[in-house]
Amino acid sequence: MKADVIILAAGQGTRMKSDLPKVLHRIAGQPMLQHVVDTARDLAPDRIIVVHGHGGDQVRAAVEGKDLVWVEQDRQLGTGHAVEQALPRVAADRVLVLYGDVPLIRSQTLERLLLACDEADLCVLTAELADPRGYGRIVRKGDEIECIVEEKDASPEIRSIREVNTGIMAMHSEGLRRWIAKLDNDNAQGEFYLTDCVALAREEGARVRAIPAKDPVEIQGVNDRKQLAMLEREWQRRVADELMTNGTTLMDPVRLDVRGKLFCGRDCEIDVNCVFEGVVVLGDGVKVGPNCIIRNSTLDAGSLVEAHSIIEDSRVGKACRIGPFARLRPGSLIEDGARIGNFVEVKNSRIGQGSKVNHLSYIGDTEMGREVNIGAGTITCNYDGANKHRTVIGDRAFVGSDTQLVAPVKVGADATIGAGSTITRDAPEGELTLSRSRQTTVKGWQRPRKEG
Ligand code: UD1
Ligand code: CA
Repeated sequence: MKADVIILAAGQGTRMKSDLPKVLHRIAGQPMLQHVVDTARDLAPDRIIVVHGHGGDQVRAAVEGKDLVWVEQDRQLGTGHAVEQALPRVAADRVLVLYGDVPLIRSQTLERLLLACDEADLCVLTAELADPRGYGRIVRKGDEIECIVEEKDASPEIRSIREVNTGIMAMHSEGLRRWIAKLDNDNAQGEFYLTDCVALAREEGARVRAIPAKDPVEIQGVNDRKQLAMLEREWQRRVADELMTNGTTLMDPVRLDVRGKLFCGRDCEIDVNCVFEGVVVLGDGVKVGPNCIIRNSTLDAGSLVEAHSIIEDSRVGKACRIGPFARLRPGSLIEDGARIGNFVEVKNSRIGQGSKVNHLSYIGDTEMGREVNIGAGTITCNYDGANKHRTVIGDRAFVGSDTQLVAPVKVGADATIGAGSTITRDAPEGELTLSRSRQTTVKGWQRPRKEG
């Protein structure tokens, strides 16, 4: 689409009561402004110009993109003034104005608005609200809009109009330049209102159209934290709907949080209160138990994650069992059929096919072969206070419970380590290695008795 997009994002957001610029408050883990930028990108516009003010450096640093043109509005003198700051950077014939604090707007709606400019000079996205308080009201004469009146400037009669200005508009840039040049701030708020362009356009006899939004939620703005939470829930509802439509079972769609992208194969099941962050891929038939957190990870077909497990930057193969209460830290590779049980932490390690680490262990910086059995309470001592060292465990090794493997160290294939050992030197292949003092019994020993 041949158009430039201007995103207004300079407002202070006083009602957020926050040190963070309003547009950086997050919906589904992403700054609101990022959502708006992403939606704008879907339209493939010529350029995206972001008008920032308060906390400009912070805003620029938080929102990605070399394709963005940043313009500063040093004082917030109104929406018309904000657009004026962006105008020198506008080159396309059409302009679309978006708000950085209206994060759920859909690209299909915006396409409709831009397309309406084929037949009109200025198109305003409007909405019919049960409670129009706070919004600018649309004053119509048939299909044409005569003007937009801000709540603070409105008579009781105008206040009773329920069709409101969503703030989102599309127009021909030539007209916009003329109208903006004529704006004044002679109104209740002493601001330069972008909305006054409507009356100015009408004076010229230009065609102004109201394009009604179909979904009142997508045009909702965020002014306070209650509205932020409301839109967060709305976003999550959309994500849950889409997952279910595509064949994923959600035990309770209102108790799911996806802060990023979640891709599910066929017949996945997700229990309540799970959080997915970044990009998460679940293969066919993967089941995730309640209260799990999975971040930037891939789990292959048939794997099961039991309750209260946390998986981060890791890869889990097919038919594995993780948890309950397991923690896979970054760089864990759990190969097909392996098991990571309760209170087990794995970090930067490969757990080979069919190996089992079932209870209360820490496995860090380890290369583990296949069919290994790690007894309860085994710990790799990978850190000497200055450096990290690797532990290598061969195929089919059996490590007895409560063993410490002091890295760097190797346990050979088919080796057995006796329970309670502290292994500081390599344990040879196929042999039993143990390090513990011999058990003795003191014959006839008496327990002390309480005196007096
Ligand atoms: C504006 C509209 C109103 C509409 C409402 C929809 C005007 C005059 N009024 O009112 O008709 O119903 O939005 O939510 O346009 N901004 C700047 N610089 C400024 C002022 C605002 O960048 O100097 C940005 C804000 O960050 C925000 C947007 O413009 O993203 C709207 O500003 P806001 O103050 O919320 O406008 P409203 O008074 O709500
Ligand atoms: Ca607002």
